[in-house]
Amino acid sequence: MDQTKTPYFQALLDYVDAGVVPFHTPGHIQGNGMDAAFREFIGDNICAIDLTPMPGIDDLLQPTESIKEAQALAAQAYGADRTFFLINGSTSGNQCMMMTALDPGQKIAVPRNSHKSMLGGLVMSGAEPVYMQPEVDEELHMDHCVTPQTVARTLAEHPDLAAVYLVSPTYYGVAADLAKIAGIVHEAGKLLLVDEAWGPHFHFHPDLPLSATAARADLSINSTHKMLSAFSQCAMLHQIGERVRIDRLLAVIKIFLSTSPNLPMVASLDVARKQMATHGRELLDRTIALAREARERINRIDGLYCFGEELKGRPGVFDVDPTKIAVTVRDLGYTGYEVSALLRRRYNIQVELADLFNIVALFTIGTTRDAMERFVTALEELSRDERPVDMFAPSGLLEQRLNRGSYRFPAVPPMRMLPRDAFLAPAEAVLFRKSKGRICAETISPYPPGIPVVAPGEEITEQIIDYLRLELKAGVRIQGPYDAELRTIRVVCE
Ligand SMILES: Cc1ncc(COP(=O)(O)O)c(C=O)c1O
Repeated sequence: MDQTKTPYFQALLDYVDAGVVPFHTPGHIQGNGMDAAFREFIGDNICAIDLTPMPGIDDLLQPTESIKEAQALAAQAYGADRTFFLINGSTSGNQCMMMTALDPGQKIAVPRNSHKSMLGGLVMSGAEPVYMQPEVDEELHMDHCVTPQTVARTLAEHPDLAAVYLVSPTYYGVAADLAKIAGIVHEAGKLLLVDEAWGPHFHFHPDLPLSATAARADLSINSTHKMLSAFSQCAMLHQIGERVRIDRLLAVIKIFLSTSPNLPMVASLDVARKQMATHGRELLDRTIALAREARERINRIDGLYCFGEELKGRPGVFDVDPTKIAVTVRDLGYTGYEVSALLRRRYNIQVELADLFNIVALFTIGTTRDAMERFVTALEELSRDERPVDMFAPSGLLEQRLNRGSYRFPAVPPMRMLPRDAFLAPAEAVLFRKSKGRICAETISPYPPGIPVVAPGEEITEQIIDYLRLELKAGVRIQGPYDAELRTIRVVCE
């Protein structure tokens, strides 16, 4: 196939060129009816291609023309048998994978550090999770991936599993041994689903970890918007081999798509694929070189540590994505949240993620040398600061907690109901600090990274209450609960 072509984007351009008189959605009619200031800001061109499925433009729900071709080009570029464009992110990708692979009540092995959208997939499919413990890195205060040994043990202990689900890479850029795990899972005759939301670029450069499609995962998802150039919300789902029920997959994808997809978004997927297929190697060469330079310079700054290749071989770390710059700031005496806020306030720099000990900056094909210089210089300046209140000083709040060990990720709580049953059960709000022993009816995840500390159906433990109260004090945003400040929590009625 000709990877220089962008058949879907071209179909939209052809429609505009034809000067069709429009009597169809969207109601702004190619910008004519749009608020003038907004239109002026976003530009005429995007308005002109914000159209609706119609003859000549194809339909994402039932592709027969240019979208079919665009998806086939994407499948070829990624080495998949079929690729589907998604416009509600890897969030919908997780839901589609679970709904395709599982029937209600079937079991799936999932790492505990999965993104909360995995739980959405469990709630929708009615499947039962069997949690696999990812490797915990106490030093860096982060979870890495699950190991092949953990997967093999889980399969041996639960022969009735229908599928194994993995997250690789993690939000911090650590990748699992996908090839080995795929061998183990397929040997056991099960499906392998991979949430590769953070690795849409992997397939296009040999210095990046092995991609899920190269490892021949049956289903995998990429957030094309996260590390490549598609618009926000744009993602792809790849399918490989004979194990997946294709009729189910096709039916499921349709229920997760709007009948009125945003066509500029769909076109941005077509174009992002072309960009990678034709220029991926050189664009990523530049990105990787810039990120490596930043990593080296950051590691020369006192009090900072940015992990790289040397982490390979630690439990749960098979490979590392060099384009993720995860900086451990603990030795500066700041929390990651504080550094993130200072970078924004003083230097007008916004990072992707902050947690108690780390910040994560993304280096993508859009990152400039100037931006890299500003980021590194800001960190150099911060490291020379006198800390006014040291959160980690012996008298500090965090140090007291660190000594008590309550900063540690809480142990996985007992699952007392299926996620779906708890999510749909009658629920009531109770005071969070007094919720010990109750069954959680909602998902509570510090965001980012959006990994649930407690999920629907799980018992709320004292450790969980302690940990989340510490995270709240340290300034984390909590996603999921009805009460965003988590003074109360929704639990299943007794
Ligand atoms: C591992 C993982 N999976 C899935 C998602 C959801 O992706 P999206 O934002 O594209 O819906 C995220 C988002 O951060 C994620 O980190």
